[in-house]
Amino acid sequence: MSSLRMDRRLVCLALLGGAAGWTGQAGAAARYDDKTKVFRLDGGDVTYAFGVNAQGQVQSLYWGGRLGDGDSPGQPVSVRDHSSVDLSVSVTPQEFPAQGGGMFVEPALKVAWPDGVRDVVLKYVSHRVTDQGLILRLKDIERELYVELRYVMDPESGILARSAVVENRAKTPVRIDQLAAAALTLPIETDYRLQYLTGRWAAEWTVETRPVAPGSTVLESRRGDTGHQNNPWFAIDRDGVSDEETGPVWFGALAWSGSWRISVDQDTLGKVRVVGGFNPFDFAYRLQPGQSLESPVFYAGYSGQGMGGASRLMHRFQREKILPGGPKAPLRPVLYNSWEATEFAVDEPGQVALAEKAATIGVERFVMDDGWFGARNNDKAGLGDWTVNRAKFPNGLKPLIDKVRGLGMEFGLWVEPEMVNPDSDLYRAHPDWVINFPTRPRTQGRNQLMLNLARKDVRDHLLKVLDDLVSQNDIAFLKWDHNRNWSEPGWPEQPVEDQQKIYVEFVRNLYWIIAELRRRHPKLEIESCAGGGGRVDLGIMALTDQVWPSDNTDPFDRLTIQDGFTHAYAPATMMCWVTDSPNWVNKRTTSLEYRFLSSMQGGLGIGANLNHWKDEDFATAKKMVAEYKTIRKTVQRGDLYRLISPRDGSERSATLSVSPDRGQAALFAFVHSTTKLDPLPRIQLRGLDPKATYRLRAMAGAADPATLAQASGAYWMEYGLDVALRGDFQAAGFVLDATA
Ligand code: DGJ
Repeated sequence: MSSLRMDRRLVCLALLGGAAGWTGQAGAAARYDDKTKVFRLDGGDVTYAFGVNAQGQVQSLYWGGRLGDGDSPGQPVSVRDHSSVDLSVSVTPQEFPAQGGGMFVEPALKVAWPDGVRDVVLKYVSHRVTDQGLILRLKDIERELYVELRYVMDPESGILARSAVVENRAKTPVRIDQLAAAALTLPIETDYRLQYLTGRWAAEWTVETRPVAPGSTVLESRRGDTGHQNNPWFAIDRDGVSDEETGPVWFGALAWSGSWRISVDQDTLGKVRVVGGFNPFDFAYRLQPGQSLESPVFYAGYSGQGMGGASRLMHRFQREKILPGGPKAPLRPVLYNSWEATEFAVDEPGQVALAEKAATIGVERFVMDDGWFGARNNDKAGLGDWTVNRAKFPNGLKPLIDKVRGLGMEFGLWVEPEMVNPDSDLYRAHPDWVINFPTRPRTQGRNQLMLNLARKDVRDHLLKVLDDLVSQNDIAFLKWDHNRNWSEPGWPEQPVEDQQKIYVEFVRNLYWIIAELRRRHPKLEIESCAGGGGRVDLGIMALTDQVWPSDNTDPFDRLTIQDGFTHAYAPATMMCWVTDSPNWVNKRTTSLEYRFLSSMQGGLGIGANLNHWKDEDFATAKKMVAEYKTIRKTVQRGDLYRLISPRDGSERSATLSVSPDRGQAALFAFVHSTTKLDPLPRIQLRGLDPKATYRLRAMAGAADPATLAQASGAYWMEYGLDVALRGDFQAAGFVLDATA
């Protein structure tokens, strides 16, 4: 660890030709200017900078578009007391503000010592430049409490990963009441607009917008898990300056699947700060001497190309840096899932019949959902007993799996490992294994309680159960469900002062189980599902290959759900099923082609009851699955352009996926309802190579008869395409292939 005095390695780099003042090579992830005490991280089109001011505070300086290599991103000069009530410590933007010394802005750290002191003031101690970023060490002015700030800059996207570790080196324990990963400061503007994601079961992923004004907006989950109500993602753009494809957007997402909080504050002097980390609600984490606590990672990015540009950066970053397998991850196979067809009434002949039909339309993975185990005939019993129900599968799962494999498909299985029905053998044997306060009622959600994964015996039990299941059966995929939030969050086996550690240890053990399971079964793929889209975040995404955005499978509702989802997360992870019509959610009737075109914008699944399909349905499905396979690489790995939003009562919507080499594009166009004889505006495409020639092909629906069969990228982007859609819930899909 070097101190502020420049270390020898950095001196050498400076002599080798670093830009004036900077140590470290131009273009390196992180550089430091010893004269001005400024740190700078550069990646993609982004520069992020902060410095150490004369008070020893680590002061935020700049976060935005990339600066010239030799440019100064500002000086770390602390802001003077604004008045006797707004002291310097509150008005100076800090990288990691701690609750103490008269500070009133949102803290990243708040602690309590056994002697009653609840004050912490952090000062810079030292730093280290790493291959990908920086590590700074801070210390309280009086006590042996250290904080390590970690910065990792992604060279391609400019997305910065920030996290913090607090370490107790004192001789007494200390209680951590609040720990964030980072505080992020935006340049002063008066027109900021916050965009965030909210929703509820079967109505997830609604994009909400509100002005950033003096005061605070809190996005959070107090539920023990990620939650449907808010998603741990935010974006801030500028009203009247930014739109879908232009203008600045600052955005971020927390990699944490437990209770979390992101607060967006505008302080009394107009500075906007975003603080994200563990939710301090009901939080307390006691650190014994020598112990430390690490925050989740808060990823932060910037785009000068509007919300669409921000989304595309996030999508690429997720695909390449977050998801298992990274750029080498296999494409999502077309799956069939039995849930909406059978619910709990699964058995061997019924599943075989569905599998035989699914195979005829090109399905690649057959997934049996809930109901295959224990006494699970409805949602009142059996959860926790992960042994095959012999009344439904007299010879175990093998005959079904063999049949599925023989039909050329992989086999996947539904599990909900963290849960238990009170009416189960597991609960009867281990009533103490659930999260509970011993003297209090145990509140049920969907007739189930939650196992306390923070307990090592529970953790080990779950790993063994899952490991046995996957070892003993030819299972390629688990759909990992999670259908309730926490209640009575007790961990009675721990000393009272340590019981709230459950908020952290539960999630860590969940991650541990999945990581260990994957280590033992490297080919196994997993979907994160949580009563719909309740556990979608960058933490679980590092361990799972795909996620389930919503139990709402109505193809029209899905357009807005998918639109919201893709603001934050990659289409490659977004599973979309074609189900029965009228849909169970709203009784809306849509054509099979419409349902396919809605679902083909992510990972395609089919969840309809194939026993009710007619010959023409199978023919349509076979054709659409085949079409999907010609464009899925573009949809899953390409750049997404949300051409026309389905939100705010829009009459129509359209998305376009363009392959990274711009050789192919897939266009999906929808009309909700046409009125009178209103003409539909032409659709202008984006992201194509203007000089290349693209041949147009309809997957379903049609373009206006006068449409050219082929034209330049410039033509499709400038002149555009007239799509012939009239009526209610109409859709068309097109492929544009570049000619050689
Ligand atoms: C909730 C999921 O979101 C559904 O897809 C289905 O798996 C059910 N749980 C099964 O109980």
